[in-house]
Amino acid sequence: MIDGIHPNSRHSFSILFVCLGNICRSPTAEAVLRHTAARVAPRLALEIDSAGTADYHIGRAPDPRSQRAARERGIDLSGLRARQVTMADFMRFDLILAMDRDNLRNLQAMSPPDARAELRLFLSYAPQLGRLEVPDPYYGGAADFAEVLDLASAASLALIASLQQRAQ
Ligand code: 4NP
Repeated sequence: MIDGIHPNSRHSFSILFVCLGNICRSPTAEAVLRHTAARVAPRLALEIDSAGTADYHIGRAPDPRSQRAARERGIDLSGLRARQVTMADFMRFDLILAMDRDNLRNLQAMSPPDARAELRLFLSYAPQLGRLEVPDPYYGGAADFAEVLDLASAASLALIASLQQRAQ
């Protein structure tokens, strides 16, 4: 068992990751959670998606630098396409996880009063990281893109453990 994760848990959850453009951080988080859950909790039924608060990159594949950083860890982002958050997302998902406080504020402003989704910062599941935001790598270098992978990997494990605990 890895850090409180039960490999045979069969519960189901739907999770939407949100960043600004949906081409760097949130598609990385989407694919990392899918990859990690398949490895450590293969019976956990997760619906996982990602979206951006902005409309800049709708329809585009993830940034080539994100694709490269993910590929180095055996994770393929090439099939993902950017989309913008919609009002329907607040009714469809159990959890909407923002990459930074700006994204969270924008989501809170959009969220209807009868929303189903709980809104949180992704890194709030992993207090051991000592930070709450996944820094925007868009104007950074390869190390910044690799850091997104590191943060998403650690937070995905913590999120899976938390989901399993919540379902007990
Ligand atoms: P993301 O990164 O929010 O992690 O997808 C960004 C992508 C594009 C831009 C900013 C951040 N942009 O300004 O176009």
